[in-house]
Amino acid sequence: MTFSSLRAAKIVYKRHFRWHLHCFLSTDIVGDKPILVRDFIRSALYDPNHGYFSKMSGSVGQLESSIRFNQLQGRVAYLQRLSNLYKQHDISWFTPVELFKPWYAFGIAEAIMRTANLSIPLKIYEIGGGSGTCAKCIMDYMMLNAPAKVYNNMTYVSVEISQSLAKKQLQTVGEVQSHLSKFRVERRDATDRSGWGNGDHEPCWVIMLEVLDNLPHDLVYSPNQVSPWMEVWLEKVKDRFVMCSQVSEVYKPIQDSLIAQCVKIIGLDEDHAAGRNRLVSAASYILSRAFPKPRRSWIPTGCLQLLEVLHSALPKMSLIASDFSYLPEVSIPGDRAPLVSTKKHGRTTDHGNYLDAKV
Ligand SMILES: C[S@@+](CC[C@H](N)C(=O)[O-])C[C@H]1O[C@@H](n2cnc3c(N)ncnc32)[C@H](O)[C@@H]1O
Repeated sequence: MTFSSLRAAKIVYKRHFRWHLHCFLSTDIVGDKPILVRDFIRSALYDPNHGYFSKMSGSVGQLESSIRFNQLQGRVAYLQRLSNLYKQHDISWFTPVELFKPWYAFGIAEAIMRTANLSIPLKIYEIGGGSGTCAKCIMDYMMLNAPAKVYNNMTYVSVEISQSLAKKQLQTVGEVQSHLSKFRVERRDATDRSGWGNGDHEPCWVIMLEVLDNLPHDLVYSPNQVSPWMEVWLEKVKDRFVMCSQVSEVYKPIQDSLIAQCVKIIGLDEDHAAGRNRLVSAASYILSRAFPKPRRSWIPTGCLQLLEVLHSALPKMSLIASDFSYLPEVSIPGDRAPLVSTKKHGRTTDHGNYLDAKV
């Protein structure tokens, strides 16, 4: 199920983020040894000490009260309201579950109620629950609308990588005392299989809202139209002239198994498939020598990793995920490139190079 086709939500996406960065230089992330781009992104976003999501519980914004949509006079009024909200909340970004609360989460709760086998205890896992709004609203909905035994016997487990957001989720859900006995937060990385122990072999629900595209991605590069893709690593180099370090990209033949798997699933190598006519191949080769056009492609290795872990740990899960359907005005080069921005005093600055940004 995806909510990304909601027109209103798409408007939110425009002002929304992929990776947002704050005050820590990329040269501080890359140590003495080169690292893959996904490890760079993981550190920038989720490092327990300097990661964007770890440092600031305000990274995922929370509205004090719901927007009264019935009192807004159409789209322009909604956009004006949104713009005021962003001015009031300096560093925060608002996700659909927050802007459309409680209705967005109520919709998910209703979908679960209609499809779950309610004769067995309802078990929901939420990954990356942000400020806890989805968890609270789903539990509110079950309390008010499901048969009493469904609410009384349900369990809601939040798996959250950020310490500060895990704390905030407990606060949000704890606004309704009776929810607390059914709710727990496990502060851990959901992509780490060992954290799931033996897993859960009972039917359960997994909710992930705006999580998949916030997971680390890798970058692959090819110097022209026909050369094979190479994996991108980042290394720190000393600049002789300005006497300081810089981070630069290094290209290596693909060896990492996650990258290789992702390249295969996306079909990036299909352009060079053996089935090509010899004449076309020769023409492409000549063209690539005469007018080489470097190619860059961002690949969702973090997403692949998480889906594989969930598939193995929760084999009977039903998955509800929502994410962006597109990102407009991205200046970073490459297919599926991220939007990397900094937000200060309510103003957003987009970066043209993911390495230039401060994190
Ligand atoms: C963009 S926020 C979305 C928050 C919330 N779902 C919403 O829609 O408002 C991404 C969330 O995923 C969490 N997260 C990212 N990677 C994670 C991982 N590997 N394991 C668990 N949580 C993760 C972040 O800390 C954050 O809570």
